[in-house]
Amino acid sequence: MEPLLFQQSKKKPAYPSFLTGFVRKGVPFRGAIDPFRCVAKELELVEQNLLRSIRSTEHILTEISAHLILGGGKRIRPMVTLLAFKVFGGQKTADIVDIATAIELIHTATLLHDDILDGAEIRRGKESAYKKFGLKPTLISGDFLFIKAFEFAGKFDATVVQWTADACTHLTEGEILQGFFNRNMNVTLEDYLEIVKRKTASLFQTGAKIGAYLAGASPAFVEEIAEYGLNLGIAFQMIDDVLDVVGHKELLGKPIGMDLRDGNPSLPIILAIRGGQRQVAEAFQSDHLTNEMIQATLKAIGQGSAIDKTKNYSRSYAELASKPIKKLPPSLYRDGLKTLVQLIVERNF
Ligand code: FPP
Ligand code: MG
Repeated sequence: MEPLLFQQSKKKPAYPSFLTGFVRKGVPFRGAIDPFRCVAKELELVEQNLLRSIRSTEHILTEISAHLILGGGKRIRPMVTLLAFKVFGGQKTADIVDIATAIELIHTATLLHDDILDGAEIRRGKESAYKKFGLKPTLISGDFLFIKAFEFAGKFDATVVQWTADACTHLTEGEILQGFFNRNMNVTLEDYLEIVKRKTASLFQTGAKIGAYLAGASPAFVEEIAEYGLNLGIAFQMIDDVLDVVGHKELLGKPIGMDLRDGNPSLPIILAIRGGQRQVAEAFQSDHLTNEMIQATLKAIGQGSAIDKTKNYSRSYAELASKPIKKLPPSLYRDGLKTLVQLIVERNF
């Protein structure tokens, strides 16, 4: 076997076991199946693929890519892809591992670009690549990872390539749409959902869909699992939005209040504004908030009903994600998909 690039890869996988973390925190998931453990072997192969793929004669590309890839990450997207494959009895592990790798590489590429766009200083608990290495090398490293993703995804049939390309198109559209509604008081819940479907849920949806397709699931089942991915992705982003208001920097690996600072229309912000919180409306429109103003506005959002309402929305989408699971053949993987929904809405990291 080709030697791995980094010694770290010989250590335990960087991804956390959600369930272990939750059980330690006293959340009663009695008898629940840990989705990470269901596909731990395959996730380790994804990890090895990721490390091999970021080799370059231009060391800076490898260094920047490794900075983010080895910096943790929950690996939720590859996990959904792998589980969707396994739940339909998929056998060709090498294929699904390659697609799961492509999905994670695309996600990583978008994060490098996203941190440039957001001017983010911290990501995954350390200095963002943008801050540490500068804009230009980080931008090109995002392109590098994006191309690497297509080395993995491009060898599949036209359907898989098209779905992957569609997901990438959606990511860019979501980002543009979010920019359009930046500090824009006209943003509606429908606009929010459209942004989230494209910028976040599309990769979850596509990973799930390709997983089922490559396992040979019927078109009807491929659509069912696509619904799972879509709704799981929406629920995931809603909780991300909640954590940006009431989360903990240490657990999240990034500072909170960034949506407010950047004028991003997150769901708690939209709901607080709709709920008549004028302070939030003013902060959302301002491009010169001090840290104190951000903290005070976060506190105000936390004291109102927007956080509970956002959590309720997230739970509704989690329920929508859970519906198709009931129709799937019973297995450990089906239980893993089910637990994942629960973990995503209950998470605090
Ligand atoms: C993180 O959202 C960002 C995304 C989910 C998508 C970013 C997409 C692009 C930059 C388009 C580029 C596309 C390709 C295919 C290279 P967030 O800012 O809400 O989350 P955060 O708090 O983790 O930064
Ligand atoms: Mg961001």
